[in-house]
Amino acid sequence: MTREASYFLPSYFDAQFDAVIHFAGLKAVGESAQKPLLYYNNNLIGTITLLEVMAAHGCKKLVFSSSATVYGWPKEVPCTEEFPLSAANPYGRTKLTIEEICRDVHRAEPDWKIILSRYFNPVGAHPSGYIGEDPRGVPNNLMPFIQQVAVGRRPALTIFGNDYNTVDGTGVRDFIHVVDLADGHIAALLKLEEADIGCEVYNLGTGKGTSVSEIVRAFEHASGKKIPLVKAGRRPGDAEIVYASTEKAERELKWKAKYGIDDMCRDQWNWASKNPYGYGPPDSTD
Ligand code: WQD
Repeated sequence: MTREASYFLPSYFDAQFDAVIHFAGLKAVGESAQKPLLYYNNNLIGTITLLEVMAAHGCKKLVFSSSATVYGWPKEVPCTEEFPLSAANPYGRTKLTIEEICRDVHRAEPDWKIILSRYFNPVGAHPSGYIGEDPRGVPNNLMPFIQQVAVGRRPALTIFGNDYNTVDGTGVRDFIHVVDLADGHIAALLKLEEADIGCEVYNLGTGKGTSVSEIVRAFEHASGKKIPLVKAGRRPGDAEIVYASTEKAERELKWKAKYGIDDMCRDQWNWASKNPYGYGPPDSTD
């Protein structure tokens, strides 16, 4: 079977696809440094294969989940979509490369309509408490780690760095509720229906910076649990302050984040308290 022919899905896939939202990427910065080939294979080759299958089925509308990590260590904030791009780890390099692949595909075939959505720091859970974050192994990211401390799966949270030039010395990030993020994807899909859209990038953040210590306090308030802390040095590769300018998304996607830090912590705790071991069996070990 030729390579092209192998891309045609079985006949029961006769349905026409209007568009594709691609967020099937590996996303742990630390893991990407330990397993770069896993990340290049999954994220890069997986995206190239997806684009080829889409083209083979006449579907040329894509929303791609990119990341604020492509801003590297921004010299100023808020970050606009025009900021210089860089990557400090294999995960970030896959995001940067996939953005370039999408731009090249659109340049070669302008009938491709692509939106690159740069996530800042997604947190929270669906308010129902039925869907939430359940990373395998030791969480790389802040909020799932806090969540696992709060339910008693981990003894303490390590704070990486408290000597940054920030409100309280800890790192500052733009945490965005996952439901706001989902709404941002709906807005992007609607934007793809517009005639003049080509390959565009949009920040999906709140435009507000929150420090690590501030979000720990907010989670303690939401959960009623004390989060024991261990202070440690800065984590290699961490930026000091990163938060989004959301003007372009507000103007062109007619989208703006609705939820604040307290909503994020409330919904994250609602999920964690109902699912202390995530989707796994009780007492499942990491
Ligand atoms: C946030 C802050 C840490 C853990 C990465 C990706 C980004 C996105 C989210 C996909 C930093 C501090 C963390 C801990 C801590 N990925 N921290 N103790 O590194 O900003 O962003 O994940 O959507 O693309 O780059 O997120 O949650 O790892 O760290 O003190 O145990 O929390 O130092 O200041 P990050 P993070």
